[in-house]
Amino acid sequence: MSVGPPQISASLLNADFARLGDEAERAVRGGVDSVHVDVMDGHFVPVITIGPAGVSAIRAHAAQLPLHSHLMVSQPLRHIPAFAEAGSDLIVFHVEADDDPTEVIAAIRGAGRGAGLALNPETSADAMLPFLERIDLLLVMTVHPGRGGQAFIPDMLLKIRDLRDEIERRGLRLPIGIDGGVNLATIGPAHRAGGEILVAGSVLYRESGELATTVRALRSAATEPA
Ligand code: DX5
Ligand code: ZN
Repeated sequence: MSVGPPQISASLLNADFARLGDEAERAVRGGVDSVHVDVMDGHFVPVITIGPAGVSAIRAHAAQLPLHSHLMVSQPLRHIPAFAEAGSDLIVFHVEADDDPTEVIAAIRGAGRGAGLALNPETSADAMLPFLERIDLLLVMTVHPGRGGQAFIPDMLLKIRDLRDEIERRGLRLPIGIDGGVNLATIGPAHRAGGEILVAGSVLYRESGELATTVRALRSAATEPA
């Protein structure tokens, strides 16, 4: 199994929302590889978080890094132009959403952005198989979406491995992202199973001060032998 080096993506969900720009800059200084913005509509998940205006405000403070907008919304299609315009480099939506994934992927690509597709813990890996050739990131939820600080669901490791094997069997270059409960104990197993983009939220933002030490520790824990 060939998995690329671990990439740390900072989720701002547990950051101080009163100072999101500063918090994004803290992630940049900490040496992360991308910024992950969790967009929730209060319908797909019970919580409401942030919209395109918030994404563009964060964009201004992390211009040098890829920005991934993670849309936990029931109707992603009609929101794609606004999130593209706000500066998202990659827009991730859920296979469980109401809209036809093929149409949403086409809209994201049509807006010149990378397309990501996510699945919830209860959703079978099979749901992703029709779309593997058409997406730029496959995001495996390792917690139930809706809040940060939850425990990693270990059963997802098998799902990650199965998807990784299928991607390899098809000869595709498609990174797998891991979202939820990533910390110093879970990042190693998640990376070994096939996770390349590791989203880190509360493990980073429960810290005050600079994040570089935690980011370095996560990166080395990811590649530590089992
Ligand atoms: C949850 C979000 C995650 C979350 C990760 O619905 O999609 O990105 O913020 O946070 P931690 O790392 O604390 O689980
Ligand atoms: Zn997320």
